[in-house]
Amino acid sequence: MTTQFDYRRIPPMPPEVYVAPLRRPAGLADDWLEPAQRSYGREEHRIWDDLYARQMNLMPGHACKEFMHGLEKLDLGQGGVPDFNQMSEELSKLTGWSVVPVPMLIPDHVFYYHLANRRFPAGNFIRSRDEFDYIKEPDVFHDVFGHVPLLTNPVFADYMEAYGRAGWKALKYNRLKALSALYWYTVEFGLILEDDQLRIYGAGILSGPTETVFALEGRSPNRIHLNVDRVMRTDYTISDLQATYFVIESFRELFHLTEQRGFEPIYESLAPAFQYAKTAALDTDHIYHRGTQEYELRGGRGSGARPV
Ligand code: CO
Repeated sequence: MTTQFDYRRIPPMPPEVYVAPLRRPAGLADDWLEPAQRSYGREEHRIWDDLYARQMNLMPGHACKEFMHGLEKLDLGQGGVPDFNQMSEELSKLTGWSVVPVPMLIPDHVFYYHLANRRFPAGNFIRSRDEFDYIKEPDVFHDVFGHVPLLTNPVFADYMEAYGRAGWKALKYNRLKALSALYWYTVEFGLILEDDQLRIYGAGILSGPTETVFALEGRSPNRIHLNVDRVMRTDYTISDLQATYFVIESFRELFHLTEQRGFEPIYESLAPAFQYAKTAALDTDHIYHRGTQEYELRGGRGSGARPV
C-alpha cells in the first residue's frame, strides 16, 4: 500500500551538510511518518465538510483551472476527511504521486526525500473550531485540499519532484533559505495568468478564505512576475498574509525557469542571506500591481489591521 514507508531506507545525510535543528514534540515515536492515516471523529469530519464548503464557494473566479480540474478528478468533497489510500490510488494513476500521513512538520531532508520520490507528506490531524480561520501548523485540510489537487497536473507534478531533488542539493550548497523562498512564493503563495486574468495556484492561499480574496483583490500587496533569481533572494512572511505575490505564465514556465535551467548554477550565484525585503518592488521587476502595503504598514494580523 502506498502509505507504508520505511524510514530506514532514507540515505543518511552527508556529514558536511547543514541540518536544521529538529523540533519534535515529546511523546512521539522516533520517526516522522504515521503508520497509517488516523481515524477521525464525527465532529472532525464535520470540520472538514465546513472548511470544504467555505472554500468551494470562493474557488470559481479565484483558483486556476488546473486546480479546479484536480479537485474534480479526486472528488475530495465526498463528505468527511478523504481517505489517503483511495486518494493515492487515484493520484498514482494520473501522475505517479501518493500521499503519506505525517504527524507534524517534518525535517527538511525527509521532506525533500519524499518529494523527490513523488510522495506528498500530509498532516494527519485536523484543526479545531477555535482555529477555523488560521492555523500555524499545516493540517490535513491545508495539505490535502490545498496541495493535492495540483499534483494531478503532470507538469506541476514534475516540478514538485524536481523541487525535492533540488532540496538535497540546497543542503549541500547551504542555500536552504533561498530554496524555501522559492517554495513559499510558488507552491504555497503562487499566482498564475489565465487569459490575462490573475488566478491562484498556491496552496497557502487556496486553503483559507481571507487570503484567497486578498491575494487577487487586495490593494495592499505587490503582484510581480516571477524571476527566480530575485525570488530566491527575497524574505517572506511566515504567519501572516504575504506582502508580495509572484506570478507565473504557466507551469511549463515555472519548470523551465528552475529544473530545466538547473539549480546548481542558481545556488552558486546566491549569497547565503536574503537581499530584498518582502515589501520591495524593484526597478527591474515586471510589476502587475504595485501594492500600497497598507496592511503591512499598519502592523498586519497582530494589530487587527483590515486585510485590504
Ligand atoms: Co503547505
